[in-house]
Amino acid sequence: MMATMSVEETYLCFAREEADGNSTVYRDWALGVATDPVLSSLIATMPEERQQPNLIFAAARLRGSPVGPFDIFREWLVAHWVEARGEALTRSTQTNEPGRCAVLLPLLSALSEPLALLEVGASAGLCLYPDRYSYRYDGGDDLDPYDGPSDVRLECATTGPVPPPARVPRVVWRAGIDLNPLDVNCEDAVNWLRALVWPGQHDRLRRLDAALAIARQDLPRLIRGDLNASVAALAVEAPAGATLVIFHSGVLSYLAEDERRRFVETVSHLNAHWISNEGPSVVAFETPAPRSPDPSTAMTLLALDGHPRAYAGSHGQSLHWIT
Ligand SMILES: C[S@@+](CC[C@H](N)C(=O)[O-])C[C@H]1O[C@@H](n2cnc3c(N)ncnc32)[C@H](O)[C@@H]1O
Repeated sequence: MMATMSVEETYLCFAREEADGNSTVYRDWALGVATDPVLSSLIATMPEERQQPNLIFAAARLRGSPVGPFDIFREWLVAHWVEARGEALTRSTQTNEPGRCAVLLPLLSALSEPLALLEVGASAGLCLYPDRYSYRYDGGDDLDPYDGPSDVRLECATTGPVPPPARVPRVVWRAGIDLNPLDVNCEDAVNWLRALVWPGQHDRLRRLDAALAIARQDLPRLIRGDLNASVAALAVEAPAGATLVIFHSGVLSYLAEDERRRFVETVSHLNAHWISNEGPSVVAFETPAPRSPDPSTAMTLLALDGHPRAYAGSHGQSLHWIT
């Protein structure tokens, strides 16, 4: 059995492996918590799955914590612990990253059109609009939706033998499943999605706001439920004549191992393509993937129909095709 990490170890690990290079504020806060016995012991009173730095920090920011030096944050968090704790106990890390469409698009655009998209673990559904965003691969020409440039433009740097997609596919049906679907018109849900973007990531915040505006024009159909319980019934609703694609990113790690296996088994028996974009060890594929091109950076493994195809930057900013 794996030993669980202490709060100090969790925060140190987060500072070094996730926040460093991505958010100076979160790195400093996490390093601060790791060496602060008062905060560490407050956080240790939470259930283990609620001790995650990005959950606690987002909960604090939602409640109005100052975003700056650790000492000031610390003082605020000790004084407002009950409120921040309450938020962290009732919410979860539902970060919705439309940027991930940039790594889905090359796979989607190679399938026969029109497409029917079904996302499990969809959060607010912002990854259900790959046809409404503009793309720029490797600094080349912009690839736009059929009706012109989008307010969301996703940049992605690629390596490997697969050329960037030449077109944005036509999507005729889209739907998602989530344990707790977030409503793009609900202020509280939007505030939470915004708090989940790390301090200093201004481009991600702009992108989130622009994607939310796009989703508000044509609301996604989101079903509340467990993905294993709901996926087969929802898949049946996809229109005949469209290519059904069931996909997920950053979701299966929330499931116990037997639930992941059950999902893989279910999806492989549905008449659909399956795109998985998860941490490299989250799904046990029959064909093992080669090592990540950059093991020191957190990347996801992108697979089509159970075959690993590429490593991807965790927010869709890069794509490294497996040769
Ligand atoms: C980190 S978010 C990722 C959202 C989106 N896929 C993206 O890439 O931006 C994970 C989402 O999975 C959902 N989730 C976790 N377990 C689930 C389950 N068993 N059934 C349905 N949704 C689930 C969570 O509620 C959350 O909204």
